[in-house]
Amino acid sequence: AEQALQVAIDGPASAGKSTVAKLVAKRFGYIYVDTGAMYRAVTYWAMTHQVALTDEAAVAELMQTLTISFKPGEPDQLVFANGEDITAAIRQPDVTNNVSTIAALSKVRTILTAQQRQIAAAGGVVMDGRDIGSTVLPQAEVKIFLVASAAERAKRRYAENITKGINTPLAQLQAEIELRDHKDSTRKVSPLTQAADAVLVDTTPMSINEVVDTIANIIKKQSSAI
Ligand code: CDP
Ligand code: CDP
Repeated sequence: AEQALQVAIDGPASAGKSTVAKLVAKRFGYIYVDTGAMYRAVTYWAMTHQVALTDEAAVAELMQTLTISFKPGEPDQLVFANGEDITAAIRQPDVTNNVSTIAALSKVRTILTAQQRQIAAAGGVVMDGRDIGSTVLPQAEVKIFLVASAAERAKRRYAENITKGINTPLAQLQAEIELRDHKDSTRKVSPLTQAADAVLVDTTPMSINEVVDTIANIIKKQSSAI
């Protein structure tokens, strides 16, 4: 029988992780878990509950009242906070620009990491984020580190924003992406880093389908090797 593997996809902002992770999951009949959405949900929840984003104890306490859940949806998976649909709200620029602050809090990471491990325990999962291969699922059978140049990533996010009615200028988007990458890569707890056994995939010149095929081939090779 086919093995139900754990597939970890990490990389910097807007490299295409969620887009390709979702398609790869569909191809293998796996579930897709967007861990960035979980950090965004906590950020949104703190911002709408007047909790200071740097107050670690207060944010951790607030999280005890927050249940994050997902439902399949097109084009985006739906994200809920205590049953409230926050799918669009967590992609707004104010959440995007504050999420790295929340993601640097060790207590927040401990709570979300435990939830993520529980979801992935049975296998048959594609999980994307920053620390999945390095920290959340160090035993994952497949680890991908997805990158693209910052200019290309800004262009992709710009095109995507237009369809959502968000009009941030291209140069500003690139600056924001680079700042978030810097914060995510230099934080003390579980920084963005390529796990030693992760496969580097540079998607700068690649179409979405090419990236999905590349990852699918890595998964097939790995599952026949087990
Ligand atoms: O989609 P985009 O690349 O803009 O970001 P995301 O995947 O939604 O993640 C948003 C933010 O959450 C990142 O910039 C990180 O600060 C944080 N994050 C994290 O720290 N660890 C993860 N496993 C996933 C996201
Ligand atoms: O999850 P992450 O922040 O890494 O990226 P994303 O939210 O999937 O956004 C990537 C954007 O680039 C989407 O608008 C994709 O349609 C587009 N794109 C891509 O993901 N991969 C390519 N090879 C080309 C474009």
